[in-house]
Amino acid sequence: MVKTQRELVKILVVDDELGMRDLLSHELKAHGFSVVAAANGEDALAKIQKEKFHLVISDVKMPRMDGLKMLDAVKKMAPDIEVIMSTGYGTIEMAVSAMKKGAYDFVQKPFNVDEILALVEKALEKSELRALVALYESSRAIFSSIRLEEMLSIVAQLASQILKADDASIMTLGPDGHFEVVVAVGLDKDDVRKRSRVALGERVAGKVAEGKDPVIISGPIQEDARFSDVESLRDIRSSIVFPLILKGEVLGVLNANRTTNEEPFNASHLRHATIFGSQIAQALHNAKLYRELEQKILQIQEMHLQLVQSEKLAAVGQLAAGIAHEINNPLTGILGFAEFLLQGDNLFAEQREDVEEILSESKRVRDIVQNLLKFSRPRKPKMEPVAVLEVLKPVLRLVQYDFRHAHLAIKMNVSEDPLWVFGDAAQIEQVFLNIVTNARQAMEGKKDGVLEIQAKEAGQRVSIRFKDHGCGISPENLSRIFDPFFTTKPVGKGTGLGLSVSYGIIQQHKGMIRVESRPGAGSTFIVELPACKIPCPEITVGGKK
Ligand SMILES: Nc1ncnc2c1ncn2[C@@H]1O[C@H](COP(=O)(O)OP(=O)(O)O)[C@@H](O)[C@H]1O
Ligand SMILES: [Mg+2]
Repeated sequence: MVKTQRELVKILVVDDELGMRDLLSHELKAHGFSVVAAANGEDALAKIQKEKFHLVISDVKMPRMDGLKMLDAVKKMAPDIEVIMSTGYGTIEMAVSAMKKGAYDFVQKPFNVDEILALVEKALEKSELRALVALYESSRAIFSSIRLEEMLSIVAQLASQILKADDASIMTLGPDGHFEVVVAVGLDKDDVRKRSRVALGERVAGKVAEGKDPVIISGPIQEDARFSDVESLRDIRSSIVFPLILKGEVLGVLNANRTTNEEPFNASHLRHATIFGSQIAQALHNAKLYRELEQKILQIQEMHLQLVQSEKLAAVGQLAAGIAHEINNPLTGILGFAEFLLQGDNLFAEQREDVEEILSESKRVRDIVQNLLKFSRPRKPKMEPVAVLEVLKPVLRLVQYDFRHAHLAIKMNVSEDPLWVFGDAAQIEQVFLNIVTNARQAMEGKKDGVLEIQAKEAGQRVSIRFKDHGCGISPENLSRIFDPFFTTKPVGKGTGLGLSVSYGIIQQHKGMIRVESRPGAGSTFIVELPACKIPCPEITVGGKK
């Protein structure tokens, strides 16, 4: 206990002998404590009821209410108060019954001052520890509900206060295997230590993390045989470096330093640090679990969405197959008869025009039916290594004239690498064409509109982004654009099949297609396909052998 803190510690001295009461009060006051005296048990209890004491030192043998009875009452009233019993004719039985009733310890009269001071210090350490534990119990609920960084900074603050450190910091293990300071108190913004990064085994923190045992360093670091090779960064007089471990895994390090406070850390501070340490480790562990959980939830949500989408596809696909089949037979008849009529020469010119109209409209129906059948019975993709760029090129060639004519530009931002994916070139081409056609239609009337295409490898996948500056998609429509037959375009312009077919294709490729859009600002379609790790350029070019 540091001297300046002692005046905050209130001790109640209870003795029926005035001389004894005065002597003890005087000595304790001389050592900086706040002291109140009581002449008997009832008086003591009345005083405890009125104000908060940290410690009671009481005689056992007193008239009316003896010390043991008073001890009982104190423990009922305020279980946190530590009680030291003093007795002139102490027997083992007396001591045992006092301890059983919850006394911290007992001392035999006549005692010397050092003896009682040592006991007082120990008792106070215990009560402080208990207060800390209580604090932690009550704050756990709060800690678990606030953000990790906030929690860590509160704990660092608290640790610094309780340990009477001049600065404290918490380092956590980053993904690159380095420990980095995440929160610090008492350190300047530009302090080297605040920015320090250490690997396992490096500097004091790294060594402690490696050894997994907390250390107290008293005096300059270089004078400590364990760290003689570590260069000191500041005028540190004493340090506690505590590894944050949970289930054997080192998650971080708690550092506390004394620079102006001259008293070195001792074993009791280390015990305090233990409480912080286990809480911080738990919080770090929880945060890690939480992040993993969040990731999983996102994955499940994504999977759920895909499932709903594929169910819709399947249902509509079956329906479409049935209808297409029903239409196909009569349609073949209509087409056949129309052609037959046109072959003969017994039609007036006007009639001929009408029959030609029948033929061309019926052909349009046939195309739609064919599309429907393709959609309902998508052929299995022929998987092979495909260079994304080689698939993009023909699509862009196909639309470039139309874009230029409408004063729209296509900007390519594609990595130098060939970007090999594993897939069916013709199907991927169809997906790209659908997306590019939609972008073109969305930018109708927007002079100098740009479609930006970006392709790059990202881990195990190749991602292709198509960003347009078109009309964008309203939030209500955003969830429906991949639905079969959903279209906002007038009859004849849109079938509402482009994106749902694309969705089905990408799904079969075990890839992903998604969209980000804001009405008015444009849309970005992102296609991800599994990267082909072993490119075989000599076998295939653009997937076409
Ligand atoms: N780039 C885009 N910008 C704005 N809206 C889009 C874009 N791409 C698709 N959409 C919306 O999604 C709908 C469905 O697209 P799609 O399945 O290709 O069918 P279609 O183009 O025949 O309407 C479109 O009608 C349009 O409302
Ligand atoms: Mg379309």
